[in-house]
Amino acid sequence: MPANKKSGCCGLGRRFYAGPKLVIMVAHPDDVQHVLVTSRLVERDPLTTSAMRPFVGDGLLTLNGSRWKTHRKLINPTFHSELLGNFLEAFHEGGLNLSERPASDSAGGAAPADTMMVRPWRRSLSLLRLSSEGRAILKYYAHLRKCVEEAIALRSAATEEGPAKTRRRLLETLVKPGGQIALPVSEIRDELMTMTVTATDTTAVLMSYALALLALHPEWQDAAQRELKDVFGEGGDCLRAASLAELASLRVLESIIKVSRYSLIDP
Ligand code: HEM
Repeated sequence: MPANKKSGCCGLGRRFYAGPKLVIMVAHPDDVQHVLVTSRLVERDPLTTSAMRPFVGDGLLTLNGSRWKTHRKLINPTFHSELLGNFLEAFHEGGLNLSERPASDSAGGAAPADTMMVRPWRRSLSLLRLSSEGRAILKYYAHLRKCVEEAIALRSAATEEGPAKTRRRLLETLVKPGGQIALPVSEIRDELMTMTVTATDTTAVLMSYALALLALHPEWQDAAQRELKDVFGEGGDCLRAASLAELASLRVLESIIKVSRYSLIDP
């Protein structure tokens, strides 16, 4: 692993032991670039894949080699920034829904998949069934799987493709109306599970880091609040959906999120 040797346990990298296994998390830009641009390093360590596979199956996060490449080639275009604008209304509705729900309602916290890495006993479905916390985790994943299967069934049942588009979303790419599929249906289900889990767990943890950092640095909290008032106004106005241009103008908030993301990798 090309980790910056000088970084040791801190600085721009992090190393720790998961049992007998040395884990090196790279954060130095040179190391990150090396990992990202060198296809030889695409082979994943079984530590990550065995922790995630019982929950998400065979998706981008757990596949290796040629199967990973096939999936990645299909899925990459569905993450084009042009598609993001179509989701703003859904993000807005989700945000309002979340802020109105009591904290006790939340499924988050029941299933941080990355904790399976440092608590290997959580990878065993039989052991999970023995505790109420474990059963909550299994219930959460069963619910996600049901939602994913319903989405696939709905898309397969469609009879028409709809208006021609230059870019298609993930499910539109993997399943065509009439049930024509780009991958075996179990792999489509696993990819949708992978996306849901990788997106929600990471975002939830990032948000808690950002809130903790804002509590520690009230001057940044004030700066973020001022920026939000400048862009969205006050009163009922601030509850409307944001446009892409407005989101792009939130420079203070963007910096806070980026710093929190970095803290997530190297606290
Ligand atoms: C703060 C937010 C996020 C952080 C810190 C984060 C971090 C990471 C890291 C470190 C990896 C590499 C894991 C590995 O290769 O073993 C990864 C991969 C991945 N992430 Fe994220 N992620 C975030 C948000 C998201 C979101 C929102 C999505 C989906 C919408 C997502 C989907 C994925 C997928 C599919 C992979 C596997 C990619 C591949 O190997 O082809 N992530 N993420």
